[in-house]
Amino acid sequence: MMISQKMADAINEQIKNEFYSGWLYLAMAFKADEMSLKVFAEWFRQQEAEERAHAMKMCDYLSDQGAEVALSALDQPTFDGSSIGAMIDETVKHEIFITDCISKLVDVAKSENDNATFNFLQWYVEEQVEEVASVTELADLVKLAGPNQLLMLENRMKETIAQRASEPSA
Ligand code: FEO
Repeated sequence: MMISQKMADAINEQIKNEFYSGWLYLAMAFKADEMSLKVFAEWFRQQEAEERAHAMKMCDYLSDQGAEVALSALDQPTFDGSSIGAMIDETVKHEIFITDCISKLVDVAKSENDNATFNFLQWYVEEQVEEVASVTELADLVKLAGPNQLLMLENRMKETIAQRASEPSA
């Protein structure tokens, strides 16, 4: 194994967090479906696919470094599903939490003098800046739209969704 056990354990913990993020967004997608907000549901499904890709990228990295990929049980997703606004706010909160997790992972790489992992993690550092910015913008738009103009907002989101669908997710 080319990285320390401490580093491998920390990455395995983050793999769980990334898969859980996908699990959470999938649950939110079904909730949005229940609300007949099909475009939001699709947006959450795209989020789920991205999170799975984030997790898989870390799994592949551990394999490349000769470390064990240790998958563990995911918690049941818990969130406020009372409205689409509440779910998007939960998404912002969750992405801020993930940003903090990535930051701590970078700290482990630094303390282990692990340049390869430090370098690998920079992709996630950048990705989190983009994720927090885009979900925060969506949360603002949902507030601006209010409950009566969500369908109009969904129309606006269709373009973003089509663009994301044409991009590689990781
Ligand atoms: Fe993988 Fe949304 O952070």
